[in-house]
Amino acid sequence: MKVTRAAAGVLSAALILLSTGATGATAAAPDETAKTSIGAPAATTTHRGGSADQSLGALARRHNLRIGTAVDMNALAADQTYRDRTASEFSAVTAENVMKWAELEPERGTYNWGPADELVAFARANGQRVHGHTLLWHNQQPTWLTQGVESGDIEPAELRALLRKHIFDTVRHFKGKVWHWDVVNEVIDDNANLRDTFWLRELGPSYIADSFRWAHQADPKVKLYLNDYNVEGITAKTDAYYELVKDLQEQRVPVHGFGVQGHLGTQYGFWPALNVAENMARFADLGLEISVTEADVRMPMPTDVYKLQSQAQGYNTLLQGCLLTPRCVMFTVWGFTDKYSWVPGFFTDEGAANLLDENFAAKPAYDAVRATLLLGRAR
Ligand code: G3I
Repeated sequence: MKVTRAAAGVLSAALILLSTGATGATAAAPDETAKTSIGAPAATTTHRGGSADQSLGALARRHNLRIGTAVDMNALAADQTYRDRTASEFSAVTAENVMKWAELEPERGTYNWGPADELVAFARANGQRVHGHTLLWHNQQPTWLTQGVESGDIEPAELRALLRKHIFDTVRHFKGKVWHWDVVNEVIDDNANLRDTFWLRELGPSYIADSFRWAHQADPKVKLYLNDYNVEGITAKTDAYYELVKDLQEQRVPVHGFGVQGHLGTQYGFWPALNVAENMARFADLGLEISVTEADVRMPMPTDVYKLQSQAQGYNTLLQGCLLTPRCVMFTVWGFTDKYSWVPGFFTDEGAANLLDENFAAKPAYDAVRATLLLGRAR
């Protein structure tokens, strides 16, 4: 494990503090309004980079870390508060949906680059890096493609050519504007097997190596990622990813990063930060960089002070694991306000997964993340 002794010493002291101190602070006064006013970011976060800039992005800069968020483009267009906070708080952005194949090419041969281009322009205007998500997935593929494969009209050779074209067209379109690409998303299932998708059935396992090679040919400078959920700790699933990376490297496939989505739930408990760091470190030892790409911590509704404190611990477990891993370069949340979240639509009676509530007020998780970024020496 590559965690330096000094860093480990400093952080374990911090961990002890955080695991006893922070909650203690809140436990003493479980009165949200009082707490929030102490924790709320200073109003001066509008101008970036100045010493008054206490945004998460600014605080993370001292750790050589980018703090990002998934961006809902409809909300960005319609909600000024959301837009302002997306601009001021974060140093990286990911398209929540508009860079996915179904959104980019709803009709065969006709690309809808507009919304994604808007996000790239917004990021550039706010000094943010763009994490591209995602070139290939088993969800959100265009209907013309899925129906073509199911009906047999699109045969494997044509499917492979379509995938190659999609990757070249997309990566070339955003060449020089995107920092990372999730090349393949969620290709290993929770039983640690290659996920049974039509990509695997029609093209065989080589579709993964091919996708990385094509993306690299299209833009040799962009960092190429594997990305998945339930990969925070050392499990059969992350063992399978570890073997996959080694296998790809033996084939000289250009894979540069491992994306830990980080979709957590208070009802499941969390991996200790040191376990998360140990898992991240082994991928770093293979020469990969690491990013937390989609962190959120949902809870069974309604919320209460205990669930909110547990949520804070959940975010901090991932962030501390990342900070303990020198090659962890980005910590991105999958949305930052409960006003816009995928969770209630996917998990009945669950929600409140984000750092800010539906009124953009700081929750204990937001303050816990800020405290962790303020602690510790610069990496
Ligand atoms: O764009 C269509 C719109 O045309 C249509 O009118 C509308 C009504 O059905 O649906 C819109 O598509 C929705 C899309 O989000 C864009 O808003 C889909 O129904 C909806 O299922 C889709 O949900 C997204 C989900 O991925 C799809 O699986 C979530 O917003 C997004 O947060 C979620 O993100 C994934 C990551 O990509 C990968 N990791 C897990 C993460 C959470 O599931």
